[in-house]
Amino acid sequence: MRNIGVIGAGHVGLVTAACLAKLGHRVTCADNDTEKIENLKKLVMPFYEPGLEELVKEAVSHQLLSFISSLAKLAEESEIIFIAVGTPPTSEGRADLSFVEQVTVELANSLSAMKGRKENAPKNIYRLIVEKSTVPVLTGEWVKRTLELLSPTGLEFDVAANPEFLREGCAIKDFMEPDRIVVGVESERARKIFEEIYSGIKGPILFTDIKSAELIKHASNCFLALKISYANALAQVCERVGADIEKVLEGMGLDKRIGLSFLRAGVGYGGSCLPKDVAAFISLCEEIGYPFALLREVEKINQGQRRLVVKKVRELLWNLKGKQIAIWGLAFKPDTDDVRDSPAIEIINSLTREGAVIKAHDPMAVENMKKVIPNISYCSDPYEAARDAHLVVLLTDWNIYRQLDFEKIKQSMKIPRLIDGRNFLDPEKLRGYGFIYRGIGRK
Ligand code: UGA
Repeated sequence: MRNIGVIGAGHVGLVTAACLAKLGHRVTCADNDTEKIENLKKLVMPFYEPGLEELVKEAVSHQLLSFISSLAKLAEESEIIFIAVGTPPTSEGRADLSFVEQVTVELANSLSAMKGRKENAPKNIYRLIVEKSTVPVLTGEWVKRTLELLSPTGLEFDVAANPEFLREGCAIKDFMEPDRIVVGVESERARKIFEEIYSGIKGPILFTDIKSAELIKHASNCFLALKISYANALAQVCERVGADIEKVLEGMGLDKRIGLSFLRAGVGYGGSCLPKDVAAFISLCEEIGYPFALLREVEKINQGQRRLVVKKVRELLWNLKGKQIAIWGLAFKPDTDDVRDSPAIEIINSLTREGAVIKAHDPMAVENMKKVIPNISYCSDPYEAARDAHLVVLLTDWNIYRQLDFEKIKQSMKIPRLIDGRNFLDPEKLRGYGFIYRGIGRK
């Protein structure tokens, strides 16, 4: 058992804290959002993630997980400190590292204060500071330099990079059963600690230097985005020649070297990671003198998919003014209530600008979307959204949209038309009911 501190109770931080506690470590999780911490103390989760609430409750009841707002206390008590604060994009798309810097400075100050205050403080204390947030390569060097400048004499420390690869919606499984754990370390001491921390997890640990570990994270997310944009670019080709993108992707993906996952065409990728990381990596590569043009194209294709949906709406409805459109799905992907950079935002805004009347449904993300787009109607079920609509547009592949009574929906719509932004429904089945169906890259 190790004493671990996790700074940041966002998606990465909270999941990391709860999972490390599940592995038997004593974990303290801190956040400067005091309301969030007070709620967590009452076991109220700040966001939805399947299984997280149960895991947090279990860890708290075993006294392996606690929440505090004092970073100083965390620094005092935890030998290993994971930094999992936000690295939001700046207006130029760079990763804003000011929170990482702020936390590093606070850690150094807290440890100095602790040494000064405690008469019986050990002569030498050791801290392992771990970057967990997605950070650009070379951040570790800055963290190290800052600690060297500000920390007290007698503090021994290591910096490490241990990027997280969890996906929202299956974050706990991704943590507990990872394809790989990547750890960038510079000392044998730090390496041993990681081996111990993760000894309860089956899965290979790849030890690298810090810069390579930092790079692996950005490179992986950019490659996933590249795969999706490749599928979407091919979908455009399919539309022009009358081929079926679903068959093309299946035929490609069955080649094990290519693989089927992350090769689905649709409205494009969204969320708080892929768009931000592609932009940040492009910006970093430019700064270091290698303009990564391929990734600019990945971004461009992704933006184009959102516009493609709006174009398809116009093709079906002619003028949008006064037309009622049902939107099914607001979250950037299923099994989450997250709408950050969701394709739905841009698409709904374009449609309303042209005068369409939107009635939207999502099983979980309505409350979050209301904060971003307050002036449309929200419905508690997909039938209500589709009633009297001129068109349904499916934007998130939630399973429930496959299980609907399409005969009933057809009867209730003005004209039964559906744009399937995720190629999620069966075109033949829908046409059988009498729907006019449009997918992405398929007939
Ligand atoms: C992503 C990565 O998958 C994680 O490995 C990584 O740890 C995480 O970012 C992060 O950096 O923290 P996440 O943003 O939760 O995870 O979502 P994904 O499951 O990757 O989906 C991203 C977007 O791509 C969604 O909008 C999804 O609908 C879209 N997508 C995914 C496609 O359009 N096509 C596909 O084939 C797959």
